[in-house]
Amino acid sequence: MVVLGLGELSDAVHERERLGEVRERELALQGAADLAPALGRGHASQYDARYAPRVGDFSIRTLVDTGAGSELELHGRTINPQFLRMLRTIGFDVHWERGEGAYLYDTDGNRFLDMLGGFGLYNVGRNNERIRAALHEALDLELPGRVALGITQPAAALAEALLERVPASLGRVLFTNSGTESVEAAIKIGRAATKRSRVVSVEHGFHGLTLGALSANGGPAFTGRFAPLLPGFSSVPFNDLDALDAELRGEDVAMFITEPIVGHGVRLPEPGYLEGAQALCRRYGTLFCVDEVATGFGRTGRMFACDHWGLEPDVMTVSKALSGGYVPIGATLFAPKVFDAVFDSMEHALSHGSTFAPNDLGVVAGLATLHELETAGLVERSARMGELLLERTRPLVERYAVVRDVRGMGLFWAIEFGEPGRSPTWRMLERLQPGIFSQLVVVPLFSDHRVLIQVAGHAMNVVRALPPLVLSEEDVDWFAEALDAVVARAQRMPSAMTRFALKAARAGRGRTPKVPARR
Ligand SMILES: Cc1ncc(COP(=O)(O)O)c(C=O)c1O
Repeated sequence: MVVLGLGELSDAVHERERLGEVRERELALQGAADLAPALGRGHASQYDARYAPRVGDFSIRTLVDTGAGSELELHGRTINPQFLRMLRTIGFDVHWERGEGAYLYDTDGNRFLDMLGGFGLYNVGRNNERIRAALHEALDLELPGRVALGITQPAAALAEALLERVPASLGRVLFTNSGTESVEAAIKIGRAATKRSRVVSVEHGFHGLTLGALSANGGPAFTGRFAPLLPGFSSVPFNDLDALDAELRGEDVAMFITEPIVGHGVRLPEPGYLEGAQALCRRYGTLFCVDEVATGFGRTGRMFACDHWGLEPDVMTVSKALSGGYVPIGATLFAPKVFDAVFDSMEHALSHGSTFAPNDLGVVAGLATLHELETAGLVERSARMGELLLERTRPLVERYAVVRDVRGMGLFWAIEFGEPGRSPTWRMLERLQPGIFSQLVVVPLFSDHRVLIQVAGHAMNVVRALPPLVLSEEDVDWFAEALDAVVARAQRMPSAMTRFALKAARAGRGRTPKVPARR
């Protein structure tokens, strides 16, 4: 079994080091240490051994140091002024300095609990040292990189490692650079393989923001302004097998695509739903595609969410946490008969791909991430911490009339709010901006308790968490106590909060700037 396929490669580099072909590492580290005092930061010593020396006069560290403090203004000028405006309105315009595990630190040294995890990217924790070491090692190996017309070792090793862990129905791996690209590949290959053009997804599902994936997104929040989308796409309510049956019965649907847990609102599947959907797909010759971009790699307390129900999909998409948050990479996994129906001859050997996919560093980080998830027991930890999180937060349903539900699976967690009795203030605020109450929870969690978290979707009173799986019991306590205090205050809807809501709504010209709700 391949765990970390760099082993033999590592032997080779040691031999080359012995022969003097690789730059002297000690000199390198000495160079980095010499630079450390110039950094002038409180934790400069932590940098000493981490950084390779610069070559010539190009230095990222100098760039970071000289640019420190100006990044918000620079972003606003060069990237996305509206995003900066939104951050400023809700008080998220912090100068971030570093990340570690489940924490983020600002330039004043304040520690924040990261319950957002970069939209569920950092399953192994931010700046995981084992992933970082593997990347350093790979860089030192001077691997060939993309040969394009050639095959290199790490990608095949990661493909094998993935196939050893996903449901047995899957047998081919097509690498991509992101979640949305993985979905694009699923749609494109799925339609060609079945020679059908229709795709069915679920209402409020989220699969990415490029045009094909966007067409499968089951809600107007993302699609509204970008019509016309691809033809032949329709959606059915999640957890509704009758509606799915009605769509598939005509035997003209290429693929049914669903997240196992609908991220928008964190909707969990009812017992039997996913198995039933798979059975319907089999009956009508439709490919069953499970989008595990958000739920994969331990998020729900199993390596893949499919494992909870013993699903055997024809297509599966992954990305996000695969590379430990370091390097963009994704993959679409296919049942061999699906893939081979399209890649069916030498002439069609390059039917789909992307210049950068697979990139060596993403692949190396992927191998190291699988190794880390397993050796550090992070999948089990996700299950355990998820249970604890529910145990500590479910009592809020009894304690506060405004809390409707607390739910989750592993470390995919959500709390849902609803009108507490008859409340004119609630109604006024909801008329102003549907879903605003959840922002009255998210904002003080950040400003008063240093907890970073997000709203789970547009115009909905659901807050969700996708923290790094390295979360500790103390972190769960930190979060649960902060949440309790914030909900207690928000439920009273004091005038300071309603003023904030009104100000935010005005700043957004009638639309409240949102804590990013997507993904
Ligand atoms: C289930 C799911 N699919 C696809 C995507 C798109 O991934 P990416 O943002 O890498 O394009 C996301 C992103 O959040 C997702 O949650």
